[in-house]
Amino acid sequence: SFIILTHHLIVRIAANFVTHAPPGEFNEVFNDVRLLLNNDNLLREGASHSFAQYNMDQFTPAKLEGYDEPVLITEHGDLGQGRFLDPRNRLSFRFDHLRKEVSDVQPYEGETALRSWRDACDTSLSAYVKEHYPTGVSTVYGKTVDGQQTIIACIEGHQFQPKNFWNGRCRSEWKLTIGQSTAQVVGVLKIQVHYYEDGNVQLVSHKEVEESIPVTNESQTAKEFVDIIENAENDYQTAISENYQTMSDTTFKALRRQLPVTRTKIDWNKILSYKIGKEMQNA
Ligand SMILES: *[C@@H]1O[C@H](CO)[C@@H](O)[C@H](O)[C@H]1NC(C)=O
Repeated sequence: SFIILTHHLIVRIAANFVTHAPPGEFNEVFNDVRLLLNNDNLLREGASHSFAQYNMDQFTPAKLEGYDEPVLITEHGDLGQGRFLDPRNRLSFRFDHLRKEVSDVQPYEGETALRSWRDACDTSLSAYVKEHYPTGVSTVYGKTVDGQQTIIACIEGHQFQPKNFWNGRCRSEWKLTIGQSTAQVVGVLKIQVHYYEDGNVQLVSHKEVEESIPVTNESQTAKEFVDIIENAENDYQTAISENYQTMSDTTFKALRRQLPVTRTKIDWNKILSYKIGKEMQNA
């Protein structure tokens, strides 16, 4: 029983590691814990929930055969039993969280009452994301949440550059509650960058936004909704680029592993202003 207990503990630790894998590094962390545990069945059984959680937390893009645009794996599209929703194409599908593969695609109607609002927001948001992110993906849901008619918009953009020892992802999630003359807009924006040449630096930043807009008709409200998203994301990215000095100092202090004392080798200013300021801002 000692062995079993130990195994369960290791599975829990492994699951925890996997959930906290930096963007784009799931496979590396997974392979590490796989070696550590040396029992694939136990890992699959004990940690599969964590693999799903990781993909939902990270807004992992999934590709459906025959459709150009990927759909995001998020908690809002979780239909249970390993199935997810593609609200744009009105489909549901099974998702393999380890291989990140889609199978068993079926028609799925969703909440028809919110369809015209969802479609209008999706159209406006897609246009914005195409313009602002080089590889951005967005998914918009229309569903009743706590009795409120809600549009939920999720955006994901990433750059994985393992050859240059960094990976980064930005995500944002926006909720618009309709059904009254004034709509509440609540958003959360997140940026996570892992830099690991000669050290191990993670920048994890998030910001919350709250606004309200008048509800008129679908296309007008969708436009105002996306205007708020665009302004908030621009402000956030500008603030991150301008505050990189403060943030890098804070991040340095939080480091567990020591970086070169002189900081000459890692030019954090350059990394942040270039990698985040430039690539992600113009993204
Ligand atoms: C939607 O509302 C806006 C602002 O009130 C108005 O200018 C526009 O004509 C309306 N569009 C439709 C399709 O009703």
